[in-house]
Amino acid sequence: MDILDIIDKKEKRQKLSREELKYVIDGYLNGSIKDYQMSALLTEIDLLGLTEEETINLTDIMLNSGEILDLGFDNITDKHSTGGVGDKTTIVLAPLVASLGVKVAKMSGRGLGHTGGTIDKLESIKGFQTSMTLNQFKEQVNKINIALVGQMGNLVPADKKIYALRDVTGTVDSIPLIASSIMSKKLASGASNIVIDLKVGNGALVNNLEEAKELANLMVKIGKNNNKKTACVLTNMDEPLGYAVGNSIEVLEAINTLKGHGPEDLTNLVIKLASLMVSMGLNIEESEAEEKVKENLYNGKGYEKLLEWVEAQNGDINNIPLAKHSKIISSPKEGYISAINALEIGKLSRKLGAGRLTKDEKIDLTVGIIINHKVGDYIKKGVPLAQIIYNEKEITNDDIISCFKISEEKIEKPKLIIDIIK
Ligand code: URA
Repeated sequence: MDILDIIDKKEKRQKLSREELKYVIDGYLNGSIKDYQMSALLTEIDLLGLTEEETINLTDIMLNSGEILDLGFDNITDKHSTGGVGDKTTIVLAPLVASLGVKVAKMSGRGLGHTGGTIDKLESIKGFQTSMTLNQFKEQVNKINIALVGQMGNLVPADKKIYALRDVTGTVDSIPLIASSIMSKKLASGASNIVIDLKVGNGALVNNLEEAKELANLMVKIGKNNNKKTACVLTNMDEPLGYAVGNSIEVLEAINTLKGHGPEDLTNLVIKLASLMVSMGLNIEESEAEEKVKENLYNGKGYEKLLEWVEAQNGDINNIPLAKHSKIISSPKEGYISAINALEIGKLSRKLGAGRLTKDEKIDLTVGIIINHKVGDYIKKGVPLAQIIYNEKEITNDDIISCFKISEEKIEKPKLIIDIIK
């Protein structure tokens, strides 16, 4: 077998066997297949796709390229977001479902590009520890049903190496490559139930609904093939989720949501995702799960679990620092907000220092942007449109204003939950 023949075969639109895919992954990991060869193959895959069978095989080979965590529990429920702007959902729903007896043993990532990451957000709570040993992790889950850390162990090294190459070769948006990347990591992290929040829209990895459905179907199929209950929720990411975009300000919004005072879109998304997780985790009907979720969201039990969780990971919930300065940007005209460009808001937040372009960049957890309105809202000229919370790095009022489209015609609020595939 040789890599050139494999690239040639793909070019001719022929199916790659499991052995050929394994040869590629092993060879790339051990260095016998070079970056430029792998990049040629990834480009062919990006252009021509993979069959379902090839994607399932590729996922399995990647999954087995490293450690597979055995947490010693037989019913862990995990949630994954494909990444968006203002997405603080995990910080609300993880303690909420844990408060209902569902075990959450979760690994999360850091922000990259215009999207944020849960680990950065949690680190804006003074003292919050995002790493621990596997034993401490298991003990904490056993004791309080919830632990959340950064990547642990040598899970899916093949994805680490391939994702870094995809990032710089324009092959991040390939549906089979996304499916195998996400699902290999979810399967390696030891969860038995998986809920995926697949963001669709201009602030998301996937902008197009047809492609999002294809990706969702593929991931659900891979999950089921591995005997995991899997559900994929397609949600709108054309405007930021909630009002806050940054790190500490997102944690504050998440806390308010657990106190029952969250933004409508975030609250509804949390209820939907949490209901699926609780339904899978406790093996009950989704309608019954939803009742339980709402109960613990509004009776304070979810919030109490958040306090217990933050304390267990050494965080001080009363110490979430904010940047030194803030300024309000007013609306330049009257009308209905017809669009809020999530991608641009994400980039502006990064420009303030809240995000990073490269993995090692240091970020400012205290800065960000608060939008004061959502798509569909009617606003008068001169009312606050958004607020910038900043330190040394600044952006202009016009930068923010250009993210908003304001029109004379009435605009309906967009649908947040577009579809559920399971
Ligand atoms: N998230 C991942 O983990 N992998 C992808 O390929 C895309 C998003």
